[in-house]
Amino acid sequence: MTILGIKTLIYGVEDVPVCTKFFEDFGLPLIESDAEQAVFVLPEGSSVIVRSIEDKRLPKCALEGPGVREVVWGVDTHESLGELISSLSTDRAVTIDDDGDAHFLSDCGLPMALSVFCKRHIVSSPDSLNAPGAVTRLNTHRKWRRRAHPKTIQHVVFAVKDFKKSFAFFRDRLKFRMSDYQRGFGIYSRAAGSNSHHNLFLIDAALPFPGLDGRPRFHHANYGVEDIDEIMTGANFMERKGWPKSHLGLGRHRIDSALFFYLPCPTGGEAEYGADGDFIDDAWVPREWTVPLFGYAHFVHNLPEWLREAPAWEFKYMDSNGQLPD
Ligand SMILES: [Fe+2]
Repeated sequence: MTILGIKTLIYGVEDVPVCTKFFEDFGLPLIESDAEQAVFVLPEGSSVIVRSIEDKRLPKCALEGPGVREVVWGVDTHESLGELISSLSTDRAVTIDDDGDAHFLSDCGLPMALSVFCKRHIVSSPDSLNAPGAVTRLNTHRKWRRRAHPKTIQHVVFAVKDFKKSFAFFRDRLKFRMSDYQRGFGIYSRAAGSNSHHNLFLIDAALPFPGLDGRPRFHHANYGVEDIDEIMTGANFMERKGWPKSHLGLGRHRIDSALFFYLPCPTGGEAEYGADGDFIDDAWVPREWTVPLFGYAHFVHNLPEWLREAPAWEFKYMDSNGQLPD
């Protein structure tokens, strides 16, 4: 009964052609496009579908505004899918479509689906790093790139009213593992069949940050690229194409260790290039980030006002049973 990760993100947007152009420039491979929708398929076999927010195929749910309006989680086998459907059907409506995919709402009304996923093997070869006295690339220059080509969908983020309750559904019913807990901010979790640090982040909708207004909304989605060079090549390409600039620029989270580059996205929310995150398994010990901003960033190019003062260095390890402190 294993969920492997995100198979498809279905966006509901205000302007399908503009959002289609954005994702093309962002580097997602466009497979088909018509007046109704655009479909992109990434090298791992996951996909992004862009539809109008008015499209009747989008499920009714608790989310407000445009952005991702359904997450299709990839399941390893038909048997696993059947078990999950049986379990979920005990206390909620589960709709099976013509492809056999199961659609339902989480306890807090997030629109989810399950589908068998034949995830494709991908190949990456990040350039070795040199440091003074530690040479791993001698007489060999780094790869040169024209633009970014994301290979994976790494995670999706939703603002919710009660992130602890929202997470409990994913932990107890879909067997997600808690990766880290950012006190007062949210919970990072991964599907049991994924080694990415997190596939899902549930953030407190009431936090005083841009894009949050207390209501359940899509926040951002992260697309995985190879390394810092691919992130910044993509970022430069997007700027040359005239898309709005990133507010923070390049940075690295402490949570997940990942390099990040968020771009304002016409879908609503943001689209993130990500690289060099933590890959973890069940031996990982979740941490409580008692000073949330310490976990947020190791560094960031455009230092925002709320990081002007360096946060205290403080966190602690948690029991790895997925239970949260009060
Ligand atoms: Fe992210």
